[in-house]
Amino acid sequence: GAPVEVNVSKIEPGQLVRAEWRGKPVYVIRRTDEIISALPKHDGQLRDPNSEEPQQPEYVKNAHRSIKPEIMVALGVCTHLGCAPTHHKGDFEQHVAGVKDGFFCPCHGSKFDMAGRVFQGVPAPLNLSVPDHSFPNEDTLLIG
Ligand code: FES
Repeated sequence: GAPVEVNVSKIEPGQLVRAEWRGKPVYVIRRTDEIISALPKHDGQLRDPNSEEPQQPEYVKNAHRSIKPEIMVALGVCTHLGCAPTHHKGDFEQHVAGVKDGFFCPCHGSKFDMAGRVFQGVPAPLNLSVPDHSFPNEDTLLIG
């Protein structure tokens, strides 16, 4: 499929924008400084905090799993059976104590943080997949 362009300059802090690439939903989020600084705090509760699973681009191997810390890009496809996880902004503590923001899969309860990293004790085996992407310029995200 053709690469898909998203203008990231239009995404407000904390906002999620949905794109579609190869028939799959892609979540693009502008993370706030607060969200970025919260990421390492719950590493101990995650299945693969350092994204060591091999089927992913090299640039996911950092604490924020992205090229730019403030821009998260991940498939909106649960790695269990493919449902769309719901973005929780500020009210994720109902799912994981002490974690304010994240993604909850309504199908069987898998939980992911704001880097798409899966929490332990849920059916999803892997972190949300990060599609190949790049930034041809400051404002433009190119997926694919
Ligand atoms: Fe998401 Fe089963 S499809 S938990």
